[in-house]
Amino acid sequence: MEGVSSVDDSLMQEEVLEGLSKPQKRLPSKFFYDERGSDLFEQITLLDEYYLTDCEKEILQNDISEIADCIGLGVMLIELGSGSSYKTRFLLEELSGLSTYIPVDISEEFLLKTVNGLRLEYPKISIIPVFADYTSHFELPISGSNNQKQVVFFPGSTIGNFNPTEAKAFLKNIAEITGKDSEMLIGVDLKKDVEVLEAAYNDPQGITARFNKNMLMHINDELDANFDIELFDHHAFYNQEAGRIEMHLVSSQKQTVTISNQKIRFEKGESIHTENSYKYSLQEFEELVGGRYSVEKVWTDERDYFSLQYLVKK
Ligand code: AVJ
Repeated sequence: MEGVSSVDDSLMQEEVLEGLSKPQKRLPSKFFYDERGSDLFEQITLLDEYYLTDCEKEILQNDISEIADCIGLGVMLIELGSGSSYKTRFLLEELSGLSTYIPVDISEEFLLKTVNGLRLEYPKISIIPVFADYTSHFELPISGSNNQKQVVFFPGSTIGNFNPTEAKAFLKNIAEITGKDSEMLIGVDLKKDVEVLEAAYNDPQGITARFNKNMLMHINDELDANFDIELFDHHAFYNQEAGRIEMHLVSSQKQTVTISNQKIRFEKGESIHTENSYKYSLQEFEELVGGRYSVEKVWTDERDYFSLQYLVKK
């Protein structure tokens, strides 16, 4: 297999069992993304209620010349997360001076499918996929010794999956992995009306519910587990105090699930917390990154729902 794989089953088993042994059961959000989960997420991005993707597209399109100016020429673009999206193609299209593109993704199947296509479409850009969990330490296939500027592209407000402490640790990790002059183009979802926020995670078609429940199917497929997804309900709400959307899977009855010979008991109404999606004010985000990065530029959409921000290392 091409690339570097750092995601394996025994680690997954450990993380799953650890999360489910907590008083408030938890599962890491990264386990949403097997091939089916990545497909479901792509469907979410097409929903009217899920404003994040449309806003980010709007910003990219309207402000691409300023964004391209910040990024500059001859750079190495490192994208964290799925590299198949419209956004990626738009950037590869518009950044004529790009020399190397490195998509980093946890889903090997998904990434391999798209890299082959991208290589045909952009023969002049050297494309090097890295299969890795970017929430833990990973290596870049190219040493920092050449003088190419590295720009990390982290779109979609995926940073929102981390709580503030985790987000700081993540930024520290990225700052260490990349070269000393590396920069970052990052999507950050902003605080707004609760109704708008909650609608984005409760679509009437139930795609988000399927996405949430798919995590249990992924665990069944990968580990020796017997979750019955019919017995869990999707629940998403805005936690005002914490400033985040929370997604949970709520057990509709008292039940026992077996994972690798370990029994996990659920009370009726007990939940597994599967995701946080933090929403920031511009000031809160500036304070969050402030230890390591300064915010050089902020672009927002017409409604100020979403932001793209250009960070440079301090
Ligand atoms: C990919 C983490 C940005 O938090 O909005 C979409 C994932 N979860 N619908 C988000 C997600 C439910 C998404 N991120």
